[in-house]
Amino acid sequence: MKFILHDLAFETTRRCNLHCAHCMRGTSQNIDLTSEVIDAFFDNNEFERIDHICFSGGEPTLNPAIIIYTIDKIIRENIDVRDIAMVTNGQIFVPELVEAFHRFNEYRNSCIIKSIAREDGIISELGRCIVDSNMDNHVRITFSTDRFHEDINSEVERRYMESGKGLKITKFAVGDDDIYKTGFSTFGQSFEYQLPSLRYTKEPDAYFILDNIYMTSNGYLTSEGNGQYVDMDHMNMGHVSDTSIEEALVNYGQAIFGTPPITSSHPKIKKI
Ligand SMILES: C[S@@+](CC[C@H](N)C(=O)[O-])C[C@H]1O[C@@H](n2cnc3c(N)ncnc32)[C@H](O)[C@@H]1O
Ligand code: SF4
Repeated sequence: MKFILHDLAFETTRRCNLHCAHCMRGTSQNIDLTSEVIDAFFDNNEFERIDHICFSGGEPTLNPAIIIYTIDKIIRENIDVRDIAMVTNGQIFVPELVEAFHRFNEYRNSCIIKSIAREDGIISELGRCIVDSNMDNHVRITFSTDRFHEDINSEVERRYMESGKGLKITKFAVGDDDIYKTGFSTFGQSFEYQLPSLRYTKEPDAYFILDNIYMTSNGYLTSEGNGQYVDMDHMNMGHVSDTSIEEALVNYGQAIFGTPPITSSHPKIKKI
């Protein structure tokens, strides 16, 4: 069974170099996402396409190796990932990460060219316009700039900005009205954590999952919810080493727009 994921996030680490007063995660932990967990995620599931992967944390620049590993695996195994993003507190510049982001851009560019070329390899005028308007910009680096974060290190920002064409640099400041009262946060919206409900439809060759899938750095599959580590550890869809996306969908999925519910003969899968 194949899947199309619209919105996937990997928690790269639970370590952090800041202690923001509003942080929904709660106390940082000495846990890093590993290559074994990434391999389990991609090797135990078949993806037709993944529209967007966000590398979050904790602070992702403290574990750049896993982002680089994931990007190189995507390229090596020709996995159809359309764009990636990293959200960071902007304190550390990692040149190897930027190089990996450029490799991803080149990979996506070549996928687009391949998908548009005719059998004889020639690209039509219309195809050329489509290619030109879709080149680069498949990677976004977002700096968190809300009032709770320490200022971004301006030298770090400058180095990311100057690190080459094709990377989109954006800033994001969570508004006070959108803050969850979880983790360290003593104000904002209460958010009662619930098991995720993954809405899905059936495409010709794959199930399309509309809701966010979030994998914690210790390998649990959730749908981020309130973002607090302890909640995600206690209520989740299972560990990636022994839970497939198919099982997650059977147990927590919600078929929409008249989609027939997913059925599976997999012996381990039962509706709970
Ligand atoms: C959890 S951080 C992880 C990535 C990185 N450490 C950073 O701060 O950018 C991701 C985003 O979540 C936001 N955030 C943190 N606590 C929040 C809360 N209680 N409610 C809503 N957003 C929150 C942060 O401001 C940041 O933009
Ligand atoms: S918001 Fe980001 S930088 Fe701030 S404490 Fe949480 S994980 Fe760390």
